[in-house]
Amino acid sequence: MTSGFPDDYFMRPTVARLQDHLDGGTDNYGPDRDFARDLVAAAPWLPASVRVNRAHGPRVLSFFTREYSIDQVIDLGCGLPHDDNRDVPDDVRRMVYVDSDPGVEAHARMILAERHGTASLRADLEDMPALLAAGPVARLDRGRPIGVLLHDVLPWLGDETVPTVLAALRSWLPAGSVLSVTHATTDMASEAMTALTRLYEGAGIVFRPRSGQQIRDLLTSWAPLETGELRTTAAWRHPTHVHSRFDHSHAYAIIASPGGRTL
Ligand SMILES: C[S@@+](CC[C@H](N)C(=O)[O-])C[C@H]1O[C@@H](n2cnc3c(N)ncnc32)[C@H](O)[C@@H]1O
Repeated sequence: MTSGFPDDYFMRPTVARLQDHLDGGTDNYGPDRDFARDLVAAAPWLPASVRVNRAHGPRVLSFFTREYSIDQVIDLGCGLPHDDNRDVPDDVRRMVYVDSDPGVEAHARMILAERHGTASLRADLEDMPALLAAGPVARLDRGRPIGVLLHDVLPWLGDETVPTVLAALRSWLPAGSVLSVTHATTDMASEAMTALTRLYEGAGIVFRPRSGQQIRDLLTSWAPLETGELRTTAAWRHPTHVHSRFDHSHAYAIIASPGGRTL
């Protein structure tokens, strides 16, 4: 991808700005808001689902620091900043925000990078060798564990790209590292998910919600850090949460390490 903004950047919706709008943010434009209206008509729970997903990031960062003493984190497909994800625990000493959207990188640089130890990078998950070799990522200390957030990013990548991303991360990450994934699923509201997929396709955006089994299969080479059934993002680490029609996640949350055990 070349530097700067593509010519049509402000004339078509982007995933990052749609997510910002659905979460009540102001970093979005007419094409995002118009398209979001169609999305919400097909899936009225979508804004709630975005909020559940975005609230998950800070919870996982606390988990990384508290339970795994991880103090360096890469947030892949970080999206636009919002109130929750500016809140990085002090124990995270190095934080690298990565996204392919030039608008995200510009915001991350202005707002998030004010925090000491924070860096932002515009890079594409389609090219993992370049992403992992880029300065802010390459400067992380690979002699110690690294936490990786892949929150609501894999559904925006095609079936051929996702295994490449996961394999590159798995061989690059040092022992003791932890990967956190959230992933939209067809296991819930499958008709609405199909409608969303078609709408996105019409806007030239790849959206691939996957079944729980497909998500497990993608992570077969990783060692899950929690046992039992897949949990929705809302239910993750909420022992009392019972899945119900009020669970608006429509996504699963998984934590894994680059070990060799199968899911
Ligand atoms: C739905 S947002 C999720 C944002 C954030 N991770 C969260 O959970 O709140 C998906 C983000 O992934 C980014 N993205 C999509 N495809 C990407 C790619 N190939 N490389 C890097 N980032 C990508 C989008 O620009 C967008 O900001």
